Amino acid sequence: MKIKSVLIIVPTYNEIENITFFIPKLFNIIPDYVNILVVDDNSPDGTGKIVEELSLNYPNRLFLNKRVSKQGLASAYIDGFKWGLSRNYDIFLEMDADFSHNPKYIPVMLEKIKDHDVVIGSRNIKGGGVEGWPMLRNMVSKGGSLYSRFVLSCPIKDLTGGFNMWTKNALEKIVLDGIISKGYSFQIEMKFKAYNAGCSIFEIPIIFIDRKHGNSKMSKKIFLEALINIWKIKKNTGADNAIDQFIKFSITGGLGTITNLLIFFLCADLAGLHEIPVSIGCFLIAVTQNYIINHKWSFRNKQNVEPLSIKKWLLFTCGSLIGLAINIAVMRFMILNFDLPWKFIAQACGIATGMIVNFIVSKFFTFRRKKNVVN
Ligand code: GDD
Ligand code: MN
Repeated sequence: MKIKSVLIIVPTYNEIENITFFIPKLFNIIPDYVNILVVDDNSPDGTGKIVEELSLNYPNRLFLNKRVSKQGLASAYIDGFKWGLSRNYDIFLEMDADFSHNPKYIPVMLEKIKDHDVVIGSRNIKGGGVEGWPMLRNMVSKGGSLYSRFVLSCPIKDLTGGFNMWTKNALEKIVLDGIISKGYSFQIEMKFKAYNAGCSIFEIPIIFIDRKHGNSKMSKKIFLEALINIWKIKKNTGADNAIDQFIKFSITGGLGTITNLLIFFLCADLAGLHEIPVSIGCFLIAVTQNYIINHKWSFRNKQNVEPLSIKKWLLFTCGSLIGLAINIAVMRFMILNFDLPWKFIAQACGIATGMIVNFIVSKFFTFRRKKNVVN
């Protein structure tokens, strides 16, 4: 992809000690197709005023989005993204105003975004890290990252970081109006949504340097909001966990069995057709029904809906046949080796084992997610 225009969005709240130096430093590094938008929440220290003055030195390159009051990081970024989308920028970069995000990484990110939808400046991969944070903040950050990765089962290594580049296409897939975060969990929510939308995501290592001037706006309240929000984000963005998937898969299997029996009854009993071809036909119909329901429901990903395909149908049919073979093997083994009062107990165990195997094949093979994160 050829990059035409890039917008760097810098949210600010009381950054007067940084902004005067930050803006010229940034303009020294960025090429002329990159513009800057500062989103200021009417900082009491006059950050907005300084940006207005600076913008006279950078006509049509530096813009200020003035907001009436402090409304949080998420809404600052969303306003910034919308500002840029309506002006047809094709690449967006989130960046802090306090020099924690070194502008030297921008050219690398611009290079990578040509082949990906999202580029994440990552502290948690080889070559990345944090300088100057007290141990507690470091632990909170690492812990928070691990916690959200675990809850969301998302392979992105730096979910919380705020130095990220997005294509217009990625932002459109994310649907900004659906974002529920107010504070810092915004970063997690954006990345998780992009991941689930099937965006191609690339993490590059960055060293995050703690600010020398001014104060962080991270607070206990923002942190706690993030901890709880993760669960809402998970529910909203709808990546089912393995247990949800297994329950849905079992219900689907049950429905398939009902269809199978019903058609068998119609064809073999009422119409008097031979039971072997009828049984094979019933199996194929039930398998097809199961494939469709599993595709659209059990293994569905709310934001990334792939079309049904013959290839996957074939894979699913193979998985079901493997399940059936295991069912029969377990059933026979039990009947031959145990002294059971009824044979159907052996069959029940066979069905359960066959189903688990079929589920595993479906989850990790047939309906496996495409890998879309490089880190
Ligand atoms: N407009 C606006 N409104 N800007 C805000 C607000 C707000 O409510 N809150 C913070 N900012 C601005 C700050 O002025 C700064 O430019 C940037 O957002 C980041 O805020 P910091 O307070 O410096 O954040 P931090 O250093 O604690 O956290 C950084 O690392 C986190 C991950 O550990 C940020 O990059 C976070 O986005 C990131 O999640
Ligand atoms: Mn900071």
